[in-house]
Amino acid sequence: MGVKQELVKQGVIYKMKIKIGYAEGRNKPIINDICSNCGVVCTPDDECYNDYKTNKPLCDNCSVFDEEKDAYTLMKKYKVILADPPWRLVKGGKKKARPNTSGKPLDYPTMDLQEIKSLLSKFSKMGEENHVMFLWTIEKYLPQAEAIAKELGYKLHVRMVWNKVTGIPSAFTIRYGHEYMLYLYKIKLPKIALSERGKIHSVFTEQVKKHSQKPEISFNIIERLYPDCNKLELFARRKRVNWDAWGNEIDNDLEIGGVVQDETSNS
Ligand SMILES: C[S@@+](CC[C@H](N)C(=O)[O-])C[C@H]1O[C@@H](n2cnc3c(N)ncnc32)[C@H](O)[C@@H]1O
Ligand SMILES: [Zn+2]
Repeated sequence: MGVKQELVKQGVIYKMKIKIGYAEGRNKPIINDICSNCGVVCTPDDECYNDYKTNKPLCDNCSVFDEEKDAYTLMKKYKVILADPPWRLVKGGKKKARPNTSGKPLDYPTMDLQEIKSLLSKFSKMGEENHVMFLWTIEKYLPQAEAIAKELGYKLHVRMVWNKVTGIPSAFTIRYGHEYMLYLYKIKLPKIALSERGKIHSVFTEQVKKHSQKPEISFNIIERLYPDCNKLELFARRKRVNWDAWGNEIDNDLEIGGVVQDETSNS
């Protein structure tokens, strides 16, 4: 099954309003024009479209196709993207290793690496040219998370570590009491707030709460580093003031289309 069908099955693509990319023949691309948002010169590979409101050219990166309006519009861009993907796991570790535990599935659907990469790739297009991504991962998926980030063009600034104080014992050996929040950036690391320079530690501690719930301190850190800018939380379970959020358990602030052209899809 292709990524697209799988996502439809999981209910990700339940709203088909906005499409990233373009539909052939709807709006004629303009070549050699300058994007009115980012200033890039449009080549045949990076075409411009006229924004339906302003009639000014927008490059492929700065525009979204709005099917309801049948036109291109300026896409909201984010300086900060925070993602906490549903890495594939079962609650309580491997059943084989611990036969007396239930090995229950998680309370939410999980995704394989291709699906996670494909979604992050779509959302990374909503980042400003220089943006940061904070990507949560766990010990098991650290190498894969870093590989995905690299393939999507992110550079690693630092691995931040959440000390969860307590943790689930894994196969009678080490009690995993940490998770990673990878601090990544595209092209050039955006400047942090002047007043926070050198003040934030790469390891932060907060007692674990509900399964998978990320600590309040991690949001505080991001808000201190980047106070006045657009922020987007992916795979969110709660809405946070001054953030846009997307996930399957909340009312979304933005939608990704079901007809996204996806290289990884078989369809
Ligand atoms: C690791 S949890 C996020 C936890 C959250 N950061 C918190 O602190 O509570 C992953 C989330 O991704 C959601 N999810 C799983 N499959 C999804 C999909 N196909 N589309 C959107 N969200 C999905 C899950 O339902 C879950 O809410
Ligand atoms: Zn542009």
